[in-house]
Amino acid sequence: MAIPRDFINELIARIDIVDLIDRKVPLKKAGKNHSACCPFHSEKSPSFTVSRDKQFYHCFGCGAHGNAIDFVMEYDRLEFVDAIEELAGQLGLAVPREQGTGKRPDQGLSRDLYELMEEANLFYQSQLRQHTDKQKVVDYLEFRGLSSDVVEQFGIGFAPDGWDGLLGRYRQNLPAQDKLLTAGMLIANDSGKRYDRFRDRLMFPIRDRRGRVVGFGGRVLGDGTPKYLNSPETPIFHKGNELYGLYELKQKHRDPQHVLIVEGYMDVVALAQFGIDYAVASLGTSTTAEQFQLLVRSAKQVVCCYDGDRAGREAAWRALETALPLLKPGDQVKFMFLPQGEDPDTMVRKIGKEAFEALMQKAMLLPEFLFDTLSANHGTDKGALAKQAIALIEKVQDTVLQNLLLENLAHKLGMNSSEDLKKKLGFTVKQAKPLNAKGLQGRGTPLRLAIALLVQNPSLGFGLAKQPALDRLQMTGIELLNHLLDITREQTLNSAQLLEMHREHNQKSTLIKLAQWEHQVADENVLPEFKQTLIWLNNQYIEQRYQELSLKQALTKVEKMQLTKLISIMKGIAK
Ligand code: CTP
Ligand code: MN
Repeated sequence: MAIPRDFINELIARIDIVDLIDRKVPLKKAGKNHSACCPFHSEKSPSFTVSRDKQFYHCFGCGAHGNAIDFVMEYDRLEFVDAIEELAGQLGLAVPREQGTGKRPDQGLSRDLYELMEEANLFYQSQLRQHTDKQKVVDYLEFRGLSSDVVEQFGIGFAPDGWDGLLGRYRQNLPAQDKLLTAGMLIANDSGKRYDRFRDRLMFPIRDRRGRVVGFGGRVLGDGTPKYLNSPETPIFHKGNELYGLYELKQKHRDPQHVLIVEGYMDVVALAQFGIDYAVASLGTSTTAEQFQLLVRSAKQVVCCYDGDRAGREAAWRALETALPLLKPGDQVKFMFLPQGEDPDTMVRKIGKEAFEALMQKAMLLPEFLFDTLSANHGTDKGALAKQAIALIEKVQDTVLQNLLLENLAHKLGMNSSEDLKKKLGFTVKQAKPLNAKGLQGRGTPLRLAIALLVQNPSLGFGLAKQPALDRLQMTGIELLNHLLDITREQTLNSAQLLEMHREHNQKSTLIKLAQWEHQVADENVLPEFKQTLIWLNNQYIEQRYQELSLKQALTKVEKMQLTKLISIMKGIAK
């Protein structure tokens, strides 16, 4: 069910990128273009420009660039298909789907489902204000200490007791009833009689990333069972893909520094009420790979918060196992455990925002939690510990993290270095994948831009100081840049000559592609832009190294000097 290429073209033709961006980032006319301070990095003077002619945006500061679709993907943090839907929605167009081999969801149906879910949501909210039983709900909210602001912010409502509170509104509308059944809001018994799924419950609407209500969690008003009743899987609700509170979080923070994962709806809401408005909850199951991916894409640091009891530790361990293969350089995952018998809701009420955030600060880094748990599991049995550790470390895709964990393990086993360990175990650390044309086809990363600028202007590299950090940086494709820097440092070349030197090179096609790539950098900005990309790459290394060093209790003199040196290299480039 691919989206037809023609439709995408038409969309780009009909959307005006200046209008689109101006609504979110007010633009000023500047010559032929429009400009603003870049929404993708922090800056004081505007280096973000939008061209109406080219229907392109570009930032000279951070290298962000692209068309309307890229902007929506980056700014609203949407996947490609969601970005298309969003833009189509703005134009009042329905996104057509090409008949593929896979099954094709009924677009019309899901649109109706979203509408009905929103109607149900509004109905539950209205019952909180109007229903004759509303007092007991208001009392319960007060008993739980929820403010009316936060109740409103999360759209919390009340499903009244009885079989047809919601159903009754669609008595004459069988097609709508059918859809409510599909959406999991009604249940049909064996004889086909339909009734409300949610009765006499406090209702938490669950929104997808675009803010559409896709499901509900309903809590009993007291001690009944089940405590929570959740929407079943439906065509628009897949528990493992959604996170409760993520939409609300994104409303507050477009680019959150950190995200806190907690276990319950009430936890998210209570934390928000106390100003910790960056918490989300997985939906009654352990955190899935999809949810983790969403989180590490949303924020640099992900803190997983669990109860301090056995169940909490086990849940944290499952989360660790899920996260390991997904982590990329720079991602930071931490684990925090609350005292026995507390959850974030009770804890924040007891100690307040500041003390809670102080606990977050003290959360364990992933390697620490990993090795603590392994030690607890295996005691002095080093063989068993090593075996389990290796099985986990093998799953790690990020080579920096993998090496770091191996170093830790070697240390635990009393070996001098991870080299000994690797030899002993015949363990081969994944090499960064060789760069191929495909690897570079993606969007304009700073690395891609650096290589393109250098291929197109080889004189940029002439006489440039060696970049030791780039030699050590672990990043797919960095070898090609280092190789080009080595060649261009020594001799003045033009692009044609440089390409000629690579006629037989295994990355010739990549180089040719980049030689022709329209990078949107104006001539006069080529040099500063190139420097910026080098600074960015040096920074990446500093960050990687910092992550490694920050796990140590204290830095050695040499390590401290190394950090200082790295920083001075950066300054040197910036001059
Ligand atoms: N949960 C569920 N079904 C249940 C119990 C729990 O789906 N029968 C899910 C809910 O998403 C709930 C989360 O697990 O939010 C955590 O459960 P729990 O800690 O028991 O509830 P709290 O969120 O702490 O809710 P409360 O404070 O109201 O007891
Ligand atoms: Mn609770």
